[in-house]
Amino acid sequence: MSDLIPVLTKEEIDKAVSDIARRISSDYKDCDLILIGVLKGAIIFLSDLIRKITIPVKVDFVRISSYGTETSSSGDIHLSKDVEIDLKDKDVLIIEDIVDTGLSLTYLSDHLKSFGPKSVKICSLIDKQERRKADITIDYVGRVIQEGFLVGYGLDYAEKFRNLPDVYHLKT
Ligand code: IMP
Ligand code: MG
Repeated sequence: MSDLIPVLTKEEIDKAVSDIARRISSDYKDCDLILIGVLKGAIIFLSDLIRKITIPVKVDFVRISSYGTETSSSGDIHLSKDVEIDLKDKDVLIIEDIVDTGLSLTYLSDHLKSFGPKSVKICSLIDKQERRKADITIDYVGRVIQEGFLVGYGLDYAEKFRNLPDVYHLKT
């Protein structure tokens, strides 16, 4: 049996999402903003976030996978679904559920830059710092968490727990 230890309540998540949406709405005023959600983990965060953003925004998705175990990325990353909207001269904001080693986002942001956008920035609900390997800047962060494997609010363990409204630390 595994234990779920509460880390973020839905009220705390809601406040973090509102704060990020307010900053994005102000920082990207008068810009051509495209949010790129990273499937599948970011779906819930993205769907809450766009409803709180008060400026015009377009949405697209990518799916990236890394070979590795269920709780740790190998850093060997591949793209299984690419963007469909033209990013040339657009302001791109990547929407992630959680940044761990940072290797996926380094790969993804380099990939998106190849389409000639005006800017590429990163927004993640959770910045998990303990295992960071890549030197990346996360421009919008909901909450910094030092360690542990988290589930809920889109985050999964072997495809389970995405539907939980709160975020938990999974102890196996
Ligand atoms: P990174 O390349 O190590 O930064 O891995 C990022 C991806 O691994 C995230 O987008 C998640 O899909 C997954 N991941 C990393 N840590 C966790 C976690 O604690 N819970 C669930 N998924 C995680
Ligand atoms: Mg993810």
